[in-house]
Amino acid sequence: MDRDPSLPYYHSTGIECDLFEAAQKNGLPLLLKGPTGCGKTRFVEHMAARMGRPLYTVACHDDLSAADLIGRYLLRGGETEWVDGPLTRAVREGAVCYLDEVVEARKDVTVVLHPLTDNRRTLMIDRTGEELLAPKSFMLVASYNPGYQNVLKQLKPSTRQRFLSITFDFPDPQTEIAVVSRESGLDAERVAPLVRLGGHIRALSGMDLEEGVSTRLLVYAATLMAGGMRVTDALESAIIEPLTDDADVQIALRDLVATIYG
Ligand SMILES: Nc1ncnc2c1ncn2[C@@H]1O[C@H](COP(=O)(O)OP(=O)(O)OP(=O)(O)O)[C@@H](O)[C@H]1O
Ligand SMILES: [Mg+2]
Repeated sequence: MDRDPSLPYYHSTGIECDLFEAAQKNGLPLLLKGPTGCGKTRFVEHMAARMGRPLYTVACHDDLSAADLIGRYLLRGGETEWVDGPLTRAVREGAVCYLDEVVEARKDVTVVLHPLTDNRRTLMIDRTGEELLAPKSFMLVASYNPGYQNVLKQLKPSTRQRFLSITFDFPDPQTEIAVVSRESGLDAERVAPLVRLGGHIRALSGMDLEEGVSTRLLVYAATLMAGGMRVTDALESAIIEPLTDDADVQIALRDLVATIYG
């Protein structure tokens, strides 16, 4: 829930805040699974702020190496100097490190994560020979979107089974109305049909759409409407175009819009 207005706004939808706190208290890493734009990043920002810890976010991709996370020697003014990567910095500071789309990371990254995510809680820095024991306040959070997964890109059981895990999904309609209204400034009465449209579009996902419309896109549409844009124009550029390039699917989406907005 939105307890403290100075924290990044996050509307909880289940036990995720309690789970995060329990994970942190017990030194356990946490894996968030869920579709794009459903609040995973916002949740981590909120919880890190709530714990009063800095947050280091790393977007993983298939070129990301262990050195990108841990650090490397750099040449500075003729001298080589060790520079910590974001993971090392987070461990040293007892911060929260958030690895977004962790399935994209290269194999050598998972090798680094294993001793850090089991009871050793140790970051091995091969290059310097350092072994950092993570302080109590350090927490590793990772996320991925199971919807994008292919057989080649799956977390190994030995990695998965080092994390507590929780599935995120789009919030229930009441919650989503509150979130979209708060984020966009559009009043709840005008957000309600938008959220209803979102529900109808999500029912299509898997058939014609790879993934349903995100809360993020509903916020975009509501933001355009709050700024005075015509509803049909806002929906075109914030919902229909971002969702698909397929002309037939776009027509189906416009039909859905027409049934809701008349
Ligand atoms: N429960 C929530 N509380 C507050 N805002 C939310 C919530 N869920 C979604 N949002 C809104 O949706 C937007 C997108 O959420 P966020 O960036 O956290 O998604 P994500 O799950 O990290 O997506 P991706 O997997 O694409 O990174 C946020 O900027 C925020 O406006
Ligand atoms: Mg995110």
